[in-house]
Amino acid sequence: MFVTLRPVAARRPRLVDPRIDSAAVARTFIAPSILSADFARLADAARAVEGNADQLHVDVMDYHFVPNLTFGAGTVEALRKYTSLPLDCHLMIEDPDRWAPLYAEAGAYSVTVHAEAVHDLVRTPKTIRSLGARVGLAVRPGTPFEQYESILDRFDMFLVMTVEPGFGGQSFLYDMLPKVKAVRQMLDRRGLALWLQVDGGVNEDTIEQCAEAGADVFVAGSAVYGADDPGAAIEALREQARRARTGG
Ligand code: DX5
Ligand code: ZN
Repeated sequence: MFVTLRPVAARRPRLVDPRIDSAAVARTFIAPSILSADFARLADAARAVEGNADQLHVDVMDYHFVPNLTFGAGTVEALRKYTSLPLDCHLMIEDPDRWAPLYAEAGAYSVTVHAEAVHDLVRTPKTIRSLGARVGLAVRPGTPFEQYESILDRFDMFLVMTVEPGFGGQSFLYDMLPKVKAVRQMLDRRGLALWLQVDGGVNEDTIEQCAEAGADVFVAGSAVYGADDPGAAIEALREQARRARTGG
């Protein structure tokens, strides 16, 4: 086994305690995606955003759920040693029920599974939480969210994909904005403290509309790692989103 079991729960306190957090608290997190970084220099990519990012987004792909292949749990465990940033693992893989726990054991702060791939909506989120990680549920652009409304208390984050998963650098799907807004309204109506993440094509031209729609965690790949100064790009994105969220 390449993954070492360890008491992750004791080591990694949650950034925000869901018991005291509420939808009324304006949180604005920027999570740069290392999918847009140099794969041969991942530790450097983490270091480049260490003082600015709120989390580091790790896109996990398996050549099956999406036509691309990226990082195993071993990569997460290795990266863990080079950054103190919370690692937000987005699993675009088949059979996440089987593989997601390995990412939690490897030191992920948060593990997100896709609704289209997960089989056990009871046991899988429970297992991930029991390993000390937050757990997220993601939907592809064509997947409605309404069918998951009644089970969202098993999750800590909901991810609305704003591109088809698989590759960085795609154009933002504006059609997803009403979906983000509808999810935010549903979470607020139900009093659920889940974070609402958007991922894909989020940049200086689109982040404000995402924030206005109610997103509070923003994944940005090319907008951060394609910039001359990734840290400054993060600060500018957060400021744009914060102003759009709070209306000032
Ligand atoms: C797409 C990934 C995204 C991607 C975002 O499958 O889930 O996280 O890296 O990259 P940009 O911001 O370039 O669209
Ligand atoms: Zn992602």
